[in-house]
Amino acid sequence: MMIPETELLKDAFSEFTKASDSIINYYHVLETQIRLLKDEVEKKNKELERAREYLENILNSIPLGIIVYDKKSISFSNKAADKLNFESILVSENINDEKAGLVKNGKGYYRWKKDNLQNGFKNKEVLIIEDVTEFEKMKERLERDERLKAMGEMAARIAHEIKNPLGSMELFLTMLSEGKKKSKVKKYVESIRYGIQTIDRIINNILSYTRPKTLALREEKIGRVVEEILDFMRLSIESRNISVVLNIEYKGSLVFDPDMMKLVIMNFISNAIDAIKGKGMIRIDIKEDKNNIIIVIADNGCGMNEEIRKNIFNPFFTTKDKGVGLGLFIVHNIVQAHSGYIEVDSTEGAGSTFTIYLPKERKI
Ligand SMILES: Nc1ncnc2c1ncn2[C@@H]1O[C@H](COP(=O)(O)OP(=O)(O)OP(=O)(O)O)[C@@H](O)[C@H]1O
Ligand SMILES: [Mg+2]
Repeated sequence: MMIPETELLKDAFSEFTKASDSIINYYHVLETQIRLLKDEVEKKNKELERAREYLENILNSIPLGIIVYDKKSISFSNKAADKLNFESILVSENINDEKAGLVKNGKGYYRWKKDNLQNGFKNKEVLIIEDVTEFEKMKERLERDERLKAMGEMAARIAHEIKNPLGSMELFLTMLSEGKKKSKVKKYVESIRYGIQTIDRIINNILSYTRPKTLALREEKIGRVVEEILDFMRLSIESRNISVVLNIEYKGSLVFDPDMMKLVIMNFISNAIDAIKGKGMIRIDIKEDKNNIIIVIADNGCGMNEEIRKNIFNPFFTTKDKGVGLGLFIVHNIVQAHSGYIEVDSTEGAGSTFTIYLPKERKI
């Protein structure tokens, strides 16, 4: 018996409905799975983003500068690196062949180290830079203290030895000039006596300022003392076309030896005058930080190169035709006797800044 066409059609329809139902069901399952996967991916992305932020926060909170770079560009730099403008160090310093080193950039000292990035970042390098300015400055100061102590002791010993025969020579000269009446001989004798007196003055300077001497301590307003010096020197400063500015931010007192400190300021000012060729300016600031009274003496004179800067406190170091080279040596000893210290910043052709730190609480 033949199945009627309508029956066949009905069967086909029911098969089709079944198949489409199962496709729809399958589609729903797939849709749910895709949604779940999407959620999962979103969750993982968020986790990754959080991990990235976490890592970036850590890298930004450490005081070391960190830069990741390849030959073409910088792909990451943390806050410390941006602040210290390490890009300019990268460009200015030829650090291609080295693995580590120390660079001086402007007023700062930076220790750096570089390494290849591992694990699939073959062409990238990581550069780590540490600001060691304070450490280097302190090291330099300690080295200077040691060196000057040894030099001072030696100079004082020699000075002492020279002083005795010098006294006898002067006595003999006096006798000689009394005996001989010839004016030529008298003139020579006077020249020798002048030489002896100059040597005697230098030796007295060495002897009085190299050994830790007792200070005549008084409580005084440091600003007033500097003002007095400036009043005394102003005419000679301004007659040379040099303007001078005194800014007293700290108006309080300090226990110190005013006469000795005057000598210190005078030496700095007379060096600044010598350094300024033509028109220029000297600026003195008196301020304080937590522990120190700070006197800053800045000039826009000739400045110094690194080689000169390292030696300026040594006794008899001078770059001047008529200089003796004792000024800063004496200054160092006086400031040290006050338990203080001096820092020097200088740029050749632009000027120098001397900063004296005098502790509020002195340990003498
Ligand atoms: N403000 C400055 N600017 C540039 N160079 C300076 C400055 N102060 C000091 N110097 C350098 O330091 C050197 C030493 O200074 P220091 O005062 O000890 O001796 P001096 O000035 O040469 O001689 P003197 O014994 O007469 O003071 C100077 O010769 C100079 O080269
Ligand atoms: Mg001098």
